[in-house]
Amino acid sequence: MRILLLGATGQVGSELVRTLPSTGSLITTSRSNSSDHIIDLQEPSRLQDTLDTVAPDIIVNASAYTAVDKAESEPNAAMQLNTEIPAVIGVWAKKHGTLVVHYSTDYVYDGTKPGPYVETDTPNPLNVYGRTKLAGDEALLASGCAALILRVSWVYGLRGNNFLLTMQKLMREREELSIVDDQSGAPTWGRSIAEATTAILAQTPLDIDKRLRLAGIYHLGPSGATTWFGFASAIRERLDLPCRLVPIKTRQYPTPARRPLNSLMDSTKLRDTFGITLPAWDRTLDRCLSDTD
Ligand SMILES: NC(=O)c1ccc[n+]([C@@H]2O[C@H](COP(=O)([O-])OP(=O)(O)OC[C@H]3O[C@@H](n4cnc5c(N)ncnc54)[C@H](OP(=O)(O)O)[C@@H]3O)[C@@H](O)[C@H]2O)c1
Repeated sequence: MRILLLGATGQVGSELVRTLPSTGSLITTSRSNSSDHIIDLQEPSRLQDTLDTVAPDIIVNASAYTAVDKAESEPNAAMQLNTEIPAVIGVWAKKHGTLVVHYSTDYVYDGTKPGPYVETDTPNPLNVYGRTKLAGDEALLASGCAALILRVSWVYGLRGNNFLLTMQKLMREREELSIVDDQSGAPTWGRSIAEATTAILAQTPLDIDKRLRLAGIYHLGPSGATTWFGFASAIRERLDLPCRLVPIKTRQYPTPARRPLNSLMDSTKLRDTFGITLPAWDRTLDRCLSDTD
């Protein structure tokens, strides 16, 4: 089983590099020379060539344009990665009967729902990043390939650009930090996403018709809920840092991209289909912070 991983250097991709070899022979791509194939995905034709050369049985797409605020001023760059690349993958995968795992985001929703979102809720992205990601999901679904689209949220880890690492740095530098306390979500460790992906692949049938029946959107998140202020407080407590945290409203912290106030997603469909549940977000934070690998 040949698995082609796109975005091998990212938060989720770097964790998938650890977990996917148990599923098959892993071939990686990124812009870094640590990968088997160095590709700039701003040029979709390069991906097409790589797909033809590698001829993977499974494509895992962890690449994306994830700079949410920058995407507002670079919509074409965001669209290339988040919409065009999934479209190329979908067409190729449909033609070759290849299974695709792709990651989507809570930012496809507008956050006005009072409770957790389910997969059948209507998306209504508030920003360029969310719109380009939603268009990528739609392109994959429209291609008719066997695609498992895993919607994740608030991803963090011990590498890359994320809230955990930013907070660790700022809390060491400053005496006081103001943190948004009216956006709700569930922080998700990149490793949890990689482990769940591998567990899903272990159960995915070889038969293409059965795969097509499983295809679709799945929410993948831990149990529990918090706010960015709650997440920052949990980090502060665990690292025993003296920095004072002040809860503020989203409107007191203006950003180029609007963000949903509610990012909570219900993962019941994933549990019922694959028997997979992620532990509570705060237990996973403990595991991440004690990780020594
Ligand atoms: N981060 C979050 O909070 C979050 C939340 C919801 C959903 N998601 C989704 O989860 C998935 C994984 O996100 P992540 O946080 O792991 O992202 P990430 O850390 O930003 O990694 C993105 C990956 O895409 C690659 N990439 C970006 N531009 C590229 C280009 N022009 N050519 C080749 N590769 C390029 C990056 O490579 P380089 O190292 O070369 O830049 C990196 O390997 C994405 O689909 C994202 O939309 C993330």
